[in-house]
Amino acid sequence: MAGSGTAHLQRDGALLSAQNLVRTYKAKGGRRVQALSDVSLDIVGGETLGVVGESGSGKSTLARAIMALPAPDSGAVAFDGADMLAARGAALRSLRHRMQMVFQDPLSSLNPAHRILDIVAMPLLVAGRGTAAERRQIVLETLGRVGLDGEQIGHRRPYELSGGQCQRVSIARALVLRPRLLVCDEPVSALDVSVQAQVLNLLEDTKAAFALTMLFISHDLGVVKSISDRVAVMYLGKLCEIAPTDSLYAAPRHPYTATLLASVPSLKPRRRTQQPQMPRGETPSPLDVPSGCRFRTRCPAATDRCAREEPQIRAIEGTPGHFVACHHPGSADVSSASAR
Ligand SMILES: Nc1ncnc2c1ncn2[C@@H]1O[C@H](COP(=O)(O)OP(=O)(O)OP(=O)(O)O)[C@@H](O)[C@H]1O
Ligand code: SF4
Ligand SMILES: [Mg+2]
Repeated sequence: MAGSGTAHLQRDGALLSAQNLVRTYKAKGGRRVQALSDVSLDIVGGETLGVVGESGSGKSTLARAIMALPAPDSGAVAFDGADMLAARGAALRSLRHRMQMVFQDPLSSLNPAHRILDIVAMPLLVAGRGTAAERRQIVLETLGRVGLDGEQIGHRRPYELSGGQCQRVSIARALVLRPRLLVCDEPVSALDVSVQAQVLNLLEDTKAAFALTMLFISHDLGVVKSISDRVAVMYLGKLCEIAPTDSLYAAPRHPYTATLLASVPSLKPRRRTQQPQMPRGETPSPLDVPSGCRFRTRCPAATDRCAREEPQIRAIEGTPGHFVACHHPGSADVSSASAR
């Protein structure tokens, strides 16, 4: 995998279109970490696009680049018909109001010194919306929409709530400006399994009630499968595969996707030959990425061509909307995937 290209972009109906995003970070000794390398994707209005990949694959960097928080080193982001990266001042703030984020750790993303009512009202205050009474009304109504009684918990501080309640507060805070795009970066990873299901259901209900479009990031393939219409798979700062969820989980074409799916624990009995497996070897350093395909040092199907030539994203014949960046798609010998 670890490919480039824009052949998979669906220009019609895209609420957000990101093209050729590059983001590097300065590392010790003046070297650069390649966190995001020529990544393009789009998010169609009304869909949930899941993004999966191992830790360090660039998922959060992608989310931040899309929101220009901070802007990527290069590339383009079109959101709702506007050039996100060219916008400045009030125009940029207005665009950002329409795209909100929910983070992984609800407790640390909420100011511990502030009351819940004030935390949820803050985006309205900063945006200069309404009077104090109007803001309070919106806050109470939005807290109600995420299953919280603002009259009851509104005067508490975040540490007086459970993790699930804190994440509901985070979601309410993201909703008060009535955004069009919700970017969720590992929104349930820090929660107990039973609470995860509740928050996932809430996100789905909220998406329908507020006519949202969602970018949903997680390293958990089961969670992503349950909520996404399409899924994008990232490895070492690159996009390797993107497809409708059913198509990706039923027949992954990228060797990395296939090994990720095969590594998911299953409740179903496996045959002796179907042991869970992770991609072999260590993830290469983002300071020193392999030539050609970045996955080649761990890929069971790698050939000489993979070291010479970076694969470009291309369509898989016969499976609409399924794109893969691999010279030999579907050729890896990987056990059947339990998350399917
Ligand atoms: N501020 C930073 N300074 C230096 N390197 C960074 C910074 N932020 C991220 N990186 C590096 O960029 C790469 C991508 O990081 P990123 O946080 O986007 O990955 P991720 O897929 O979100 O990982 P995780 O699943 O652990 O959240 C990693 O190698 C990471 O170490
Ligand atoms: S077969 Fe080659 S191009 Fe495809 S994932 Fe493996 S190393 Fe990359
Ligand atoms: Mg992350």
